Amino acid sequence: MSLKAVKLWLGACGLLALGTLTSVEAQDFNEQQVARGKYLVAVIGCGDCHTSGYFFGKPDMAHALGGSDVGFEIPQLGVFVAPNLTPDAQTGLGDWTKEEIVAPLQTGKRPDGRELAPIMPWQDLANLTREDAMAIAAYLKTLPPIKNKVPGPFAAGTRPTVPVMKIVAP
Ligand code: HEC
Repeated sequence: MSLKAVKLWLGACGLLALGTLTSVEAQDFNEQQVARGKYLVAVIGCGDCHTSGYFFGKPDMAHALGGSDVGFEIPQLGVFVAPNLTPDAQTGLGDWTKEEIVAPLQTGKRPDGRELAPIMPWQDLANLTREDAMAIAAYLKTLPPIKNKVPGPFAAGTRPTVPVMKIVAP
């Protein structure tokens, strides 16, 4: 092969690689995947815990998945408020990659390494197929960003600034 032919060949490979990359990225956000994610989020009921007003019987659907206003007290662990899952960069998942969103669903680990409190049902969600977990992440990325930083987590023994659901002994 002449030098020119080699260069042409390498160029074609590059284009091919670029083509594959673009189609993978496009695939990440294809309509079918986002629709599947929306369906799963609705059926699993992520919004029950992650939408304010839900535990008062009036979910604020204008701020769906924008974070709760009630904390769960887990004995010995503390109080945990379900955070904002919309793509706001400062207060939500805007800066999280799809992989970083999928990891907590499958392993319970946040990007900073902290294990989520078990009230977040990640041990159940770990049964999702990778495709379905990715579909959920893709859908969350398409939500309108809502600016809302939920308070906490509050260490056991400290005073939470939100209403709390707790187990009360008889
Ligand atoms: C029973 C209530 C509940 C349900 C249902 C629930 N979550 Fe959560 N989730 C939580 C709580 C509480 C936390 C915070 C736990 C902590 O800080 O340790 C959390 C944390 C998270 C986090 C980590 C976010 C962060 O900023 O740290 C993600 C991502 C997440 N949930 C996604 C989901 C998705 C997606 C679903 C549905 C497939 C879902 N959750 C269903 C209660 C719930």
